[in-house]
Amino acid sequence: MQREHWKNQLGFVFATVGSAVGLGNIWRFSYMAYSHGGGAFLIPYIIALFSAGIPLLILEFAIGQERIGSAPLAYAKIRKNWEWVGWWSVTFVMFGIVLYYTVIIAWCLDFFIFSFDLSWGRDPNGFFFHKFLAVTRLPSEIGEVRPHIVMALLAVWVINWGIVYRGVRRGIEYINKIFMPLLFILTAVLVFWSISLNGSMMGIKAYIEPDFSKLSDIRVWIDAYSQIFFTLSLGFGIMIAYASYLPRVADITKDAILTAVINSGYSLFAGIAVFSVLGFMAKAQGKAISEVVSQSIGLAFVAYPKAISLIPGGRFFGAIFFLCLVVAGLSSSISIIEAFVSAMIDKFGFRRGAIITLLSVLGFLCSIIFTTQAGLLWIDIVDHFITQYGLVVVGIAECILVAWFSDIKLLRRHINSISSIKLGGYWNAAIKYFIPFVLGSILIGDLYTELRQAYGGYSWVSIILIGWGWLFLTIIIALVFASLPWGTDYAKTLEKDNKTV
Ligand code: ALA
Repeated sequence: MQREHWKNQLGFVFATVGSAVGLGNIWRFSYMAYSHGGGAFLIPYIIALFSAGIPLLILEFAIGQERIGSAPLAYAKIRKNWEWVGWWSVTFVMFGIVLYYTVIIAWCLDFFIFSFDLSWGRDPNGFFFHKFLAVTRLPSEIGEVRPHIVMALLAVWVINWGIVYRGVRRGIEYINKIFMPLLFILTAVLVFWSISLNGSMMGIKAYIEPDFSKLSDIRVWIDAYSQIFFTLSLGFGIMIAYASYLPRVADITKDAILTAVINSGYSLFAGIAVFSVLGFMAKAQGKAISEVVSQSIGLAFVAYPKAISLIPGGRFFGAIFFLCLVVAGLSSSISIIEAFVSAMIDKFGFRRGAIITLLSVLGFLCSIIFTTQAGLLWIDIVDHFITQYGLVVVGIAECILVAWFSDIKLLRRHINSISSIKLGGYWNAAIKYFIPFVLGSILIGDLYTELRQAYGGYSWVSIILIGWGWLFLTIIIALVFASLPWGTDYAKTLEKDNKTV
């Protein structure tokens, strides 16, 4: 079967940056930093980036490029009975992460429109939680579907469908070459505007001032590592699929470092815009930074609208802020869908057009649960379980698979033979010992806390059904996909490929 390729190396980097830079960089990163006291979060975040993020990104690029396959195919080519792990990663992102991710993009699209007439009025907090989302008290109180959100959600799925339908080069690469420069320009406008606000320095100080006392809090470390996974799209199967469209010679290490540095640089840069506005709000209301927003998950949807209302010309910058979120979100959501689409094509030989159409309809329908009045609570639980457990477990699994069940030295030799930045033995050690150890410890620490106290103060029933239940369901789906027979001639090459590793 003919595999598509990127038009050029730059197109690949635009696409990987497009996947990495997403809602996670603005919405998730800023609320993580905010809830961990700003600067306190940056140290573990940067340590996590260098100790796990970059080495794993190189690993995922190498797996996809060298094995020429989406996650399930690439894993199956290394060890046939590990195929299900690949399926699991692309399943929990397609039938987990992207379902709520598109709903948050839909909120942003709605807020982009609201910016023009400041629909939130004098009380953005009340507007967001009580009018727009109309959040219920418990996840079991589903309430009604919010029509505004569903309309925007439909638009998001249609856009996703349109881009992925056109394929790797004409769809994904083409759109990222427009989206990424646009995003960086809009963000720069926003940052320069926000630092000109009165009180912005107070916010920036809270953002960058390290608080070493927080480093003893294991929660901060866990969140930093899971944020690095989320932001670099690690464990999603995306980077493996994207790298499978590379030619036989590609500068893997340079591309991985570029992607990681641009992505984190973007987060840190965009964080200035968020924290400057928080500083402005704190000053205007005579409060401390930590008291400006009541619920950090709503940070982007409460703090920004508040500031926009207070400042002349704010509407324009509000619209830019939400447009940035929409653009960043779309470039990531297409990558998530592509990870699954490419797995389905590799395994069953489906036509791209047919499978993306089916998946978009299914995805839209399944996303609707997150547009209900309990949607925010469901997002909170599902996001926690999938990122904390799904991504981390897949991260450990890929390290073990490559370092313990195949010849990692051979893989490093391959990377070094085609890359300009050569990897030393430390990379092997990181993949073989350090990363599994750190991720494993985090996992155990997290499980321990989890079992003693239900996450987020929700009831055990909600946690078991929505959190664990959702994860469990994705495992079942993955096992089913893995057990189905191959519909493509890749099956013939699996055994042969296995012998070569
Ligand atoms: N990497 C994407 C993000 O950060 C998923 O939003």
